[in-house]
Amino acid sequence: MDPVRWKIEDHTRAKHRVLRSYLDAWIPIMGYQSKKAYQPDGPPRLLLVDGFAGPGTYLDGEPGSPLIMLDALLSHASLEKLGDVIFLYLFIEQDPRRVAALKEEIAKLEVPANVKIHVEPGRFEDRFSELIAKIKGNGKSLVPTFAFIDPFGYSSASMSLTGSFLDFPRSEALFFLPLSFVHRFVGRAGQEATLNSLFDGDRWREAIPLSGDDRKSFLMELFEEVLSSQGQVKHVASFRLNTNDGNDYRLVFATQHEKGLDQMKRAMWKVDPISGISYSAKMNSGQEMLFSLDPDTGPLLAELKRAFGSRWFTVTEATEVTRPTPFVSDSHLKRLTLAPAEKVGVLEVKRKDGQRAGTFGDDVRMRFL
Ligand SMILES: C[S@@+](CC[C@H](N)C(=O)[O-])C[C@H]1O[C@@H](n2cnc3c(N)ncnc32)[C@H](O)[C@@H]1O
Repeated sequence: MDPVRWKIEDHTRAKHRVLRSYLDAWIPIMGYQSKKAYQPDGPPRLLLVDGFAGPGTYLDGEPGSPLIMLDALLSHASLEKLGDVIFLYLFIEQDPRRVAALKEEIAKLEVPANVKIHVEPGRFEDRFSELIAKIKGNGKSLVPTFAFIDPFGYSSASMSLTGSFLDFPRSEALFFLPLSFVHRFVGRAGQEATLNSLFDGDRWREAIPLSGDDRKSFLMELFEEVLSSQGQVKHVASFRLNTNDGNDYRLVFATQHEKGLDQMKRAMWKVDPISGISYSAKMNSGQEMLFSLDPDTGPLLAELKRAFGSRWFTVTEATEVTRPTPFVSDSHLKRLTLAPAEKVGVLEVKRKDGQRAGTFGDDVRMRFL
């Protein structure tokens, strides 16, 4: 077996597609925003971290996450216009052979002067916490940061480190959580310290008497709840990756901004155009769908009915209900949920004179029949 590279799996391709789609949106949004912001310390800077970077390529040459993160910028239509923004890439990798392999891959790239790449050998939990401690010690703030935290297992992803990082403004993180492993290790002796660190406390113990899906749901909800309470996190969104060998892994995203949440949900919908919440290696090849399928907005309709019952509500209120669901209000709420509900007669809508049926302005009031 190659000690440096390994064969890519289908669920990894799906994970990479979520990462890439998100960065395709993040780069211009954050780039232009940072140009507009007041910069007392020189040119605007953005930081992209890959905490468990790997060797840069897989066994058959497919790009790994560091190359995907770089290519999202290097092949972006806005690259030239963002020439005065400094993009800092920090790749942390523990295995020295993978560090060397990654450096070799990076050396092959043509990189403009405003893109700075640093490969840091060592453990994420050490290197990243040193960086954060240094910035905090200087009384400074981290530049807007996106961190991808993708360990093989879960032992190194401590919630307290995450919390101190997500306390900086405009920082966000995408985690890979091997839920099946967490599920298995709950209740096994010797895992207590690791699980305490992952869940920032010992509430995971409540999962011990549970089994099967109940245990999994409990642990997932707990992870999301604890993550939501870290730093300045306001929104959390998850995506399920079912592997060929039947394991259930999750991508979990934490952000402070609604815009980031919507962009990440859009990235997830690109991988799962029907429900926006999961990828199954058994049903998909990890490639882009060749034909488009309509999203199933039934769960959103059900959520709206549950939230409002038969009382009158507005689009603003419906948008609030949509936010914690996998649906994106701009894409799914009006045209794909409210309008069809009105058409089939389950939604009564009051509009001002002259407003067309099927349109949902801010002053529209509606209720379920
Ligand atoms: C799942 S792989 C990363 C794959 C990569 N993110 C990608 O998508 O192409 C995890 C990597 O983390 C490295 N690693 C393991 N423990 C680590 C730690 N504590 N800190 C940093 N890197 C670590 C492993 O050597 C391995 O290369």
